[in-house]
Amino acid sequence: MFKVAVIGGSGLLGRALVGELARQAGWQVVATTFSRPAPHAITLDIRDARAVEQFVEREAPDALVIAAAERRPDVCEHDPALARALNVDAVRTLAAAANRCGAWTLSISTDYVFDGAHPPYRHDAAPSPLNAYGRSKLEGERALLEATDLGCMLRLPLLYGPIVGWAESAVTSLVPAIAASVDGKPAVMDAWAIRYPTFTPDIAFVIRQMLEQHARGDTIRGIMQWSGDEPMTKYDIALRLAEALQLDARLTPQHTPTDATPRPHNCHLASDRLDALGIGRRTSFDTAIRQVLGAFPWRGDTAT
Ligand SMILES: NC(=O)c1ccc[n+]([C@@H]2O[C@H](COP(=O)([O-])OP(=O)(O)OC[C@H]3O[C@@H](n4cnc5c(N)ncnc54)[C@H](OP(=O)(O)O)[C@@H]3O)[C@@H](O)[C@H]2O)c1
Repeated sequence: MFKVAVIGGSGLLGRALVGELARQAGWQVVATTFSRPAPHAITLDIRDARAVEQFVEREAPDALVIAAAERRPDVCEHDPALARALNVDAVRTLAAAANRCGAWTLSISTDYVFDGAHPPYRHDAAPSPLNAYGRSKLEGERALLEATDLGCMLRLPLLYGPIVGWAESAVTSLVPAIAASVDGKPAVMDAWAIRYPTFTPDIAFVIRQMLEQHARGDTIRGIMQWSGDEPMTKYDIALRLAEALQLDARLTPQHTPTDATPRPHNCHLASDRLDALGIGRRTSFDTAIRQVLGAFPWRGDTAT
């Protein structure tokens, strides 16, 4: 039996990951959640170092994947102590505890460790985060790699996938404004920052392949990166969402940044290290977004 602990199994990525791993014959998945208890999951606050250590010692997994984090840039900007507790200190505690029981730790980082001025970025390009979120995730990368020699960071760009509410992903969070523009004011959409939306079931597949390598005794260490390959601004994304939803939306492109929290222009991540290992899967945006919208149907109701 190959046992994997997924920390943050209730999040956007964590749910896709638990679903993918639970389908593997001979694998056992132990998931943790925090504010959203689930029937087969263990409630764990990763800010509680003792509880984290007890969890890892008791479960003794072969591998531990950290999908829990504070990933909202505005929250990180206003509450740097929370960002540090989740994105740095908890990663260190989890990785050190996993290392003591001989488990491989895979944690998730972000393209926001780069400033977005010189894409594409290889895994060894110099990081230069522009905001508190990116800084905390970069510190988390360093904390993990110091805490264990059995560790890997996987950097990812903008995520989307099956949701439980529109606001869960920066892709689907555009839907309420798109819908409101049909009978109201035009929706202004950022047409400056270039993003590479990446589908969470594809990432779950990539992580499963990385876990299989570890199970075969060929452990991946250090910094890895994975990205979708379709560049889009939020304006482009909104046009494609409106088409998929068959909404006659009125969208206005905004060609200069207006965010309160500074965001990078284009952090395209090179996926060459995983490509070289034959690891990867990319579902096209138009196919994937129709799956997402089909599973969370448009009811003319944007309140959720
Ligand atoms: N979303 C993106 O566009 C994006 C882009 C690049 C990288 N990433 C990275 O990808 C990873 C997954 O992001 P995501 O979008 O899936 O995040 P998410 O949907 O916000 O999920 C966050 C997870 O963290 C858990 N959590 C929060 N506070 C916790 C605490 N104190 N103790 C234990 N667990 C706690 C949540 O549990 P409850 O829900 O049960 O409270 C949830 O399972 C993160 O490392 C993020 O930085 C995300």
